[in-house]
Amino acid sequence: MRLYTTLQLGVLLSIILLIFYLYTVRTINNSVGLEEYIEEQDLISNEVVTENIYFTRNDIVVAVVACGDRLHETLNMLKSALMFSQTKLNFIVVAEDRLIDSFNEKLGEWKTFMNGGFTYHVLPLTFPTDNPLEWKNLFKPCAAQRLFLPNILKDVDSILYMDSDTLFLTPVETVWEHFHKFNATQMAALVPEHEDPNVGWYNRFAKHPYYGKLGVNSGVMLMNLTRMRAFQWKEYVVPIYKKYKLKITWGDQDIINIIFHYHPDKLYIYSCRFNYRPDHCMYTSVCKQAEKEGVAVIHGSRGFFHSEKQPVFQAVYRSFEEFHLGGDVYKDFYQQLESYLESAQNNNCGHVKDIFLKNIRKYLDLD
Ligand SMILES: *[C@@H]1O[C@H](CO)[C@@H](O)[C@H](O)[C@H]1NC(C)=O
Ligand SMILES: *[C@@H]1O[C@H](CO)[C@@H](O)[C@H](O)[C@H]1NC(C)=O
Repeated sequence: MRLYTTLQLGVLLSIILLIFYLYTVRTINNSVGLEEYIEEQDLISNEVVTENIYFTRNDIVVAVVACGDRLHETLNMLKSALMFSQTKLNFIVVAEDRLIDSFNEKLGEWKTFMNGGFTYHVLPLTFPTDNPLEWKNLFKPCAAQRLFLPNILKDVDSILYMDSDTLFLTPVETVWEHFHKFNATQMAALVPEHEDPNVGWYNRFAKHPYYGKLGVNSGVMLMNLTRMRAFQWKEYVVPIYKKYKLKITWGDQDIINIIFHYHPDKLYIYSCRFNYRPDHCMYTSVCKQAEKEGVAVIHGSRGFFHSEKQPVFQAVYRSFEEFHLGGDVYKDFYQQLESYLESAQNNNCGHVKDIFLKNIRKYLDLD
């Protein structure tokens, strides 16, 4: 009788252990799966939360998309916008979910001690609501986000779209003013990808159509969203992507180039000094307008803000990074920049280092 019971107990115990084991393993598996699932869902939000974003006609709106490790770079760009502008700015930051809190925290902090001198909205990555699955499957979420801003920001008239690796060396107003120079058909402004055909990328390598002789760079883009919506911009994006996706190297910039190849009358071209890249000085100085009027926006494309290879670009970035808003722009920023540039001058871009100071000197009334 006792033996029997022990045996029974043994079997019962084994069964309990087995059930426990199966349950635990399943739970662990499930929870891993769930986490991945949540992460995937987190990356893209289909909710359109932009209904309440309105601006008045003359408001200046700076927009940027930030993902991955671009948080600090993006904040630096926004800081540079605040440093020199004389009018109230409005920021729209579209960010990967895990960066949203950090943006809100920093921008909130800045806003407090700038006496509310700007507004900001931090939005999750969003695709148009009509067919979110199609968009999601077609594009990497961050790369293509800018192409959908006309539809996502459906109550916003115009924005200045900035790549996160750009910095203002002049008031934002100086760039924005170009909107008023658009003729009746123009809906966006961009700078040429190159000034010199001998080192141009599109004219030598592209396997798809592109704008003009040398293509355009999309890092600093004035976008009249009202006109882009009227043009039905979004309807061009997907067919072009589908047709050329195997031939595209530079992502959304290539799509923009293809669209304006077929609609050159819709694009306003402004000077290279509004999107100044290492290509403009690394061999010889090719952006003559920057020599004359100074660099307005510097663009550390291809990682050059963070690389030893272009010390001038690194010097400019570092000066902004080290400056705290509310500090003395002359003592805490300009003098630092001058001295960093001084020690970065033994290379081709260093030979024209004054073009990076010119507009800041003007802002500070130093000439
Ligand atoms: C954008 O285009 C619309 C329609 O032509 C126009 O009413 C509006 O003033 C333009 N916005 C800017 C900032 O120029
Ligand atoms: C606007 O300018 C572009 C570029 O110069 C030109 O192709 C287009 O025809 C112009 N549109 C009008 C309405 O003048």
